[in-house]
Amino acid sequence: MGTSTFILINVVPPLLCCFPSFVLTLFPLSKRTRIYLIFFSGVQYLSSSETIPTSRKVFMNETVQEKQPTLTSLLSNLLKEEDREKLESTGFACNKEAASIHCVANGPLQIDTKTMTVTIPSSNQTTQETFVIRPYARQEDDNLLKTITPVKISWQNITTPQICEYNHEIPAVIFSSSGFVGNVFHEINEIIIPLFITTRHFKSRVQFILEDYNPSFVRKYRNLLSQLTEQEIINPVSNQSVHCFPGAVIGLKFHNHLSINSTDIPRGLSMRDFRQFLRQSFNLKFSHVSQITRPRLLLLSRRVTRRFINEDDMIRMMEELGFEVIVVARAKLISDIKMFLSLINSCCVLVAAHGAGLTNELFLPDGAVMVQVDLIGLEWPAENYYGHPARAMGVHYLRYKIEPEESSLFKIFGRRDHVAFTDPRGAFPVLVGKQVYLNGQNVKINVERFRETMVEAMSLVQDSRL
Ligand SMILES: *[C@@H]1O[C@H](CO)[C@@H](O)[C@H](O)[C@H]1NC(C)=O
Ligand SMILES: *[C@@H]1O[C@H](CO)[C@@H](O)[C@H](O)[C@H]1NC(C)=O
Ligand SMILES: *[C@@H]1O[C@H](CO)[C@@H](O)[C@H](O)[C@H]1NC(C)=O
Ligand SMILES: *[C@@H]1O[C@H](CO)[C@@H](O)[C@H](O)[C@H]1NC(C)=O
Ligand SMILES: *[C@@H]1O[C@H](CO)[C@@H](O)[C@H](O)[C@H]1NC(C)=O
Repeated sequence: MGTSTFILINVVPPLLCCFPSFVLTLFPLSKRTRIYLIFFSGVQYLSSSETIPTSRKVFMNETVQEKQPTLTSLLSNLLKEEDREKLESTGFACNKEAASIHCVANGPLQIDTKTMTVTIPSSNQTTQETFVIRPYARQEDDNLLKTITPVKISWQNITTPQICEYNHEIPAVIFSSSGFVGNVFHEINEIIIPLFITTRHFKSRVQFILEDYNPSFVRKYRNLLSQLTEQEIINPVSNQSVHCFPGAVIGLKFHNHLSINSTDIPRGLSMRDFRQFLRQSFNLKFSHVSQITRPRLLLLSRRVTRRFINEDDMIRMMEELGFEVIVVARAKLISDIKMFLSLINSCCVLVAAHGAGLTNELFLPDGAVMVQVDLIGLEWPAENYYGHPARAMGVHYLRYKIEPEESSLFKIFGRRDHVAFTDPRGAFPVLVGKQVYLNGQNVKINVERFRETMVEAMSLVQDSRL
């Protein structure tokens, strides 16, 4: 049948909500190009299979029982050695880094979800200060933190336990879905991966309390969230009660952009585990590129900013090299569709200009290739948000650095030696720079030069399959 181009258009009109998802084949545009319309029903997504782990078995065998980590050890693993002593002696300790803060309490406590106050019993008069955390893994961003509801932590000389409206046997984990929710990169980078890092070891025995509860975020990541907790998530705004817990974690641990450091606390988790977790949660078939028979390439086609002006020429060249090219018109597709994730997972190569759509690298099989078209002025985020993480997760990373002449900014600034090209970081104040490089730039790829990158991509794919 030869290579074909597919164009996927995501349509989620409310009227379609009650039909199963289906794919419509439309008229062929040319011999090779076909448009597929994928109508996707939210209902199907919501009802997709979930495995809610059953509660832990009780082992009668003492040797086995010893190996089951206790709640105290699970909580203390979330801290560095020096802070563990503090947790043992005072029942409370925190880990603070540039991007994240999380605090751990390892004794009975109360959480009043009406005021988002955590009250820890204490007979120590001197520790009666109050402490405030805004639980979001982007602590360096003061403007963003203002959107996160604060959690107050206070100590009280409680002699008789106050009335608990709900008694829980598992620890609470408090985090927020405010912030940059709506942008896939930020959702996964600042909430999903930190949540995995913080709670995976608890084997679903945690109660999530999600502040600034965003229903669409919860719907979108339902498959993942249900693997991390066996309980319904508490939305403090709709469940204003006093809950009692045997311990709590407030805030989530962040390691680095789209990555997990297995030697950092809580230790032992890796990107491999996370990708395995994603594949399991979304039922993705391919773990290694060698399992895929065709050299399928997915091109993320942005429509508003950072657009490929000569996309057709790029596609023609890719097809000449033997790729089966799939064009996806909206990066946000990832936000709705399990089917879309399966599609990404079936590709050997992902090509995109810098942007949140590159977060899709997470769903590529091992040994696949990600090609990032690196635009003027965006080297830092390109490398730190997507390039380095790709390599660290077992995906080959190729960078195609554009020349000034390939950027639409060339028409504006006129010459190669303009400061906008020679020193993008210094050329404009930060917010103006963002407008210029992130929102004001499109690219006309030099197809001959880009071919070299794609030849390399093809040979990496072929090597991976040997
Ligand atoms: C208890 O566990 C140990 C080590 O896992 C095993 O060797 C032993 O056979 C077990 N005993 C029973 C009664 O299951
Ligand atoms: C805590 O309360 C108890 C009972 O009210 C009292 O006996 C004790 O002195 C208090 N401790 C401190 C440190 O205030
Ligand atoms: C009581 O508080 C003081 C000051 O915060 C602290 O140094 C001390 O370790 C605390 N004692 C206990 C038993 O928590
Ligand atoms: C509040 O949370 C408790 C404990 O998780 C739950 O049993 C209860 O049904 C919730 N109430 C509402 C109104 O959601
Ligand atoms: C991983 O974490 C450890 C412990 O915090 C740190 O020493 C090391 O530099 C980190 N590695 C990377 C690649 O960030």
